[in-house]
Amino acid sequence: MLEMNDRPRRNRKHPAIRAMVRETWLGPEHFVYPLFVQDDPRIDPIPSMPGCSRLGPDAMLAEVEAAWADGVRAVVLFPATPESLKTDDGREAYNPDGLVQRLLRRLKKEHPELIVATDVALDPYSAAGQDGLVAPDGRILNDETVEALCKQAVSQADAGADIISPSDMMDGRVGAIRQALDAAGHAEVSILSYTAKYASAFYGPFRDALDSAPRGGDKKTYQMDPANGREALRELMLDEEEGADIVMVKPAGAYLDIIRALREATHLPVAAYQVSGEYAMIKAASQNGWLDERAVALESLIAIRRAGADIIFTYYARQAARWLAES
Ligand code: PBG
Repeated sequence: MLEMNDRPRRNRKHPAIRAMVRETWLGPEHFVYPLFVQDDPRIDPIPSMPGCSRLGPDAMLAEVEAAWADGVRAVVLFPATPESLKTDDGREAYNPDGLVQRLLRRLKKEHPELIVATDVALDPYSAAGQDGLVAPDGRILNDETVEALCKQAVSQADAGADIISPSDMMDGRVGAIRQALDAAGHAEVSILSYTAKYASAFYGPFRDALDSAPRGGDKKTYQMDPANGREALRELMLDEEEGADIVMVKPAGAYLDIIRALREATHLPVAAYQVSGEYAMIKAASQNGWLDERAVALESLIAIRRAGADIIFTYYARQAARWLAES
């Protein structure tokens, strides 16, 4: 027999002991469920995201109710916008009768207890498919965009949003949105900032889902370079100063080090977004019989929690809530 005092396996010898010493746990209270919505009663499945569909208003309500029954308490809305409503200035973003604004009013009326988050960025409404306003020479205009984002945020708050989440990565937008919300009487509305949002190829299926890919060019002058970590801490410092309530890292799985770095550097809650490409990879491999979907999905989520995320945006929210209730 080997002479050893330390045998870490003793703490793994029984399920009850493993449960006793478990450091991290996962529950539906951690999830935010992203929903793709459209102004059309159809349910349109998204080919690159099996299990996700673009939902019309009634179908979205039904999905929200089913998700609530499964334990999900928060959703975030992403609208598919018809080409006819996309403009250079993206003004549909702050139409008080726009799809998101109408759905917010309906959701908060029928389910006041549900937490509803909204995305702030112009890309679903922009003819160019950019999160910001585009100058004639192709530059993305920062300060002019921030003005539009403030109008978008206030119109969402007017319609009942609980959490405003700017995903656009313009400089100074968190502070400007905070001021705009407060001035409009929405001091209680939270800001969840996409603090470290990377210029990632993992967003591909999401852009298919909403037909929102940039029409030429990319998002690298505002979204972060995947090579950078310290820069995320600089963004964190600014978002804290500007009044963010929650800070987010996106994507999640390939950026666990960034989640950990933010966790260690801030007292604010940290969120992470398991994005469309992360979901699509697990789905595709599972559909081929190459991975055990349930085990891999839950492992990917617990890993995001272990890295330091309090909150996880995931397309698996509803399914994972069901799996967790079974286990
Ligand atoms: C748009 C936005 C994107 C995502 C969330 N909000 C796409 C992008 O920045 O191009 C990606 C989400 C995902 O891939 O699941 N501002």
